[in-house]
Amino acid sequence: LLIGMPEMRQSSLVVVANRLPIDDSVAPDGACEWRRSPGGLVSALHPLLRHTPATWVGWAGRTGPAPTLPDVDGVRMQSVPLSTEDFRDHYEGFANATLWPLYHDAVEQPEYHRRWWEAYQRVNQRFAEVAAEVAEPGGVVWVQDYHLQLVPALLRELRPDLRIGFFLHVPFPPPELFMQLPRRAELLRGMLGADLIGFQRAQAAHNFAQLVAKVLELPATDRQIAVDDREVRVGAFPVSIDTAEMAALAARPEVAERARRLRQDLGGPEHVILSVDRMDYTKGIEQRLKAYSELIAGGHVKVRDTVLVQVAMPSRERVGQYQILRERIEREVGRINGEFGRVGEPAIHYLTQPFDRAELAALYRMADVMAVTPLRDGMNLVAKEYVAARVDDTGALLLSEFAGAAAELSQAYQVNPHDLEGLKQGLLAALQADPADLSRRMRGMREHLHEHDIRAWARSYLSALDESESLTTRLRTD
Ligand code: ADP
Ligand code: G6P
Repeated sequence: LLIGMPEMRQSSLVVVANRLPIDDSVAPDGACEWRRSPGGLVSALHPLLRHTPATWVGWAGRTGPAPTLPDVDGVRMQSVPLSTEDFRDHYEGFANATLWPLYHDAVEQPEYHRRWWEAYQRVNQRFAEVAAEVAEPGGVVWVQDYHLQLVPALLRELRPDLRIGFFLHVPFPPPELFMQLPRRAELLRGMLGADLIGFQRAQAAHNFAQLVAKVLELPATDRQIAVDDREVRVGAFPVSIDTAEMAALAARPEVAERARRLRQDLGGPEHVILSVDRMDYTKGIEQRLKAYSELIAGGHVKVRDTVLVQVAMPSRERVGQYQILRERIEREVGRINGEFGRVGEPAIHYLTQPFDRAELAALYRMADVMAVTPLRDGMNLVAKEYVAARVDDTGALLLSEFAGAAAELSQAYQVNPHDLEGLKQGLLAALQADPADLSRRMRGMREHLHEHDIRAWARSYLSALDESESLTTRLRTD
């Protein structure tokens, strides 16, 4: 099975995620080009692991044999191969057309196919085998996210000496939804191979415990579950960002200058609203565009004074629901600009390009209002990045109550993105807010993120994982 795998060395800390932090994307001229992988998981873990003697096990972003990769910032890269069938049935299929929509309140219909489940098992087995090869005796393996929920139990079979953690970056749904899954018991058992199962929010841990009690009939509380002779701990560990790094980037004179320049290029409007999303149906982009266009149509917002910059990075582009979404968004942006824009003055500036961190920081510094209005989101790191970048305590964050970040960023302008009128009111309130009030809110949120950054997250998770092992050992020897 592991034929074609690059040579493996062992580490005491192994992170296993579907994606490596670098992505082998193809440049327009057909050449291979390495760049940072998309999404919040990589944004969170990449700064964390930098310069630690860890190994990151993951897929390098292209199907076929696994490439041999150099270390990235001192972290070993161990790539796992995915064939075109694995990519179609595991990544695009079970992970992103079954679990992703199901875990996000089924805002799109989840699809169930037996062939996808076969692929999910096969790919999880492969990741578990690679992790088993690269983990030092007695080492820690930290498995990430919904693509790899079977890995903890498969890995425990292979390597009972390891301490195994699992963290889910996305929401974990209520029992009514999870019960739809044809292979629900297997998925729960897979996760229970871990010593510690971490979620973004306490509600998710509660949902999980309820399901384990109902489906597997195991004694379960929101904090621990007894499995065979082991104690599995469960808890909420809200993920975060490298706050200091984003603040330092945003404070650079050239970034501040770039932000001024961007504003000038927009025609020097009074207000700039910004949204930065992966192009995903969970992000509420269509609802936001509708709210914005109604505000213009109703005369509450004037295109000359206010502009919206919508960055929407294409994602999972061969999955049908994502293709439909992109078409709908682009039609709507075209309609709004056609109806309300003027020559040289579009109502919406729409960008689908990847930006480097400095350009993102400049965009954050440029925006008076950051609109983050997902229908459901595990955390949403963009909201946290915006707050960290507002080093002068200006700016307003409009935030969906359905983003994990809402539990921590209580001083944001919170909205229900399903409520169009509420969304419009929230946008207007953020646009018209009193600067002193904004500054008080922003300072509070910045202070929170200063303390609760990505390192604090890892510390709290890994020390809980450490304790969970001693708890299990105690139980075994009692
Ligand atoms: P998700 O994990 O669903 O993609 P998050 O908001 O948690 O959502 O994380 C998105 C991450 O991707 C953030 O770190 C953000 O800065 C980054 N990102 C989003 N759009 C772009 C883009 N166009 N170019 C570069 N990075 C982006
Ligand atoms: C979310 C998921 C990550 C995923 C990222 C980007 O953040 O939680 O696991 O890597 O989206 O999605 P992609 O499908 O491109 O890996």
